[in-house]
Amino acid sequence: MADPLIDLREVTRSYDEGPPALAGISLRVRPGEALAVLGPSGSGKSTLLNLIAGLDRPTTGGVTVDGVRVDTLNETASALHRRARIGMIFQFFNLLDDLTVADNVLLPAQLAGVPRARAADRAAELLARLGIERHARAYPGRLSGGERQRVAVARALMNRPPLLLADEPTGALDSASGADVRELLRGLNADGQTIVLVTHDLALAESCATRTIEVVDGRIARDVSRAVTR
Ligand SMILES: Nc1ncnc2c1ncn2[C@@H]1O[C@H](COP(=O)(O)OP(=O)(O)O)[C@@H](O)[C@H]1O
Ligand SMILES: [Mg+2]
Repeated sequence: MADPLIDLREVTRSYDEGPPALAGISLRVRPGEALAVLGPSGSGKSTLLNLIAGLDRPTTGGVTVDGVRVDTLNETASALHRRARIGMIFQFFNLLDDLTVADNVLLPAQLAGVPRARAADRAAELLARLGIERHARAYPGRLSGGERQRVAVARALMNRPPLLLADEPTGALDSASGADVRELLRGLNADGQTIVLVTHDLALAESCATRTIEVVDGRIARDVSRAVTR
C-alpha cells in the first residue's frame, strides 16, 4: 500500500477557552483519495484542514504531509512547503480583485520563482482546461461565482500540488455553479488528484468523495470508504 499523503497521529488542538476544537484525531489519507469531511458547525472541520495545511499547529500529536512533519516547521519553511505541495480553495474564492484572472492564476508560480514565460504557459493551459480562458484578462469582480471558483481552482493547481484542500468550495454558489464545481473536482480526482474537502454539501460528498469522515466534537465519528467505479 502506498505511503499515506497525510498522516495525523493523535492530534489535539485546544484553545484557552472552551472544549478542545480537536479532541484526538488519527487519520491517514492515501494518494488518490478524495476525502470529504462532514460534521456540524463548530465540530472542528476547518481546524483539521488548517492543521493539514500547516496554517495552524496541533496542541499535541503529529501532522505529516507528503513525508514532512508540518507541525514542526517554522513559518518560512511552512509557507514554502504549502506553496510547493498544497493547493487551497475556499468558500469565498479569496482571489485578488486588483489582479486579472491570468495574474491571479500566475501568482503561486511567481512566488515560487518560476520564470514568467513558463508560468504564463502553465496558466494559459489551466485556464483552457477549466474553460475560462476567455476571461484571462478580466478582473475577478466581473465573473460569476462559479467562474471565480474555477479561477481559484486553476490558481490552486498552478504549482502541481500533490494535495488539494477545499473548505466549503460550493458554499457560496448557486446550485448550477455548485454542480459545475462538483463535476470539476470529481474530474480532477478521477485524474489522480488527492483532495480533502470540508463541506455541508452532501451532493458534493456524494458525487466527488471516495471516502467520507464525519467529525463530531473534535473526533472522527464515522469513516466510510466506497468503491469507485470509473
Ligand atoms: N481562534 C480560535 N479561538 C478559540 N476558539 C476557536 C478558534 N478557532 C476555532 N475555535 C473553536 O473551535 C471549534 C471548532 O471550530 P472550527 O474548526 O472552525 O469548526 P467547523 O469548521 O467544523 O465549523 C469551535 O468551537 C470554535 O469556536
Ligand atoms: Mg469551518
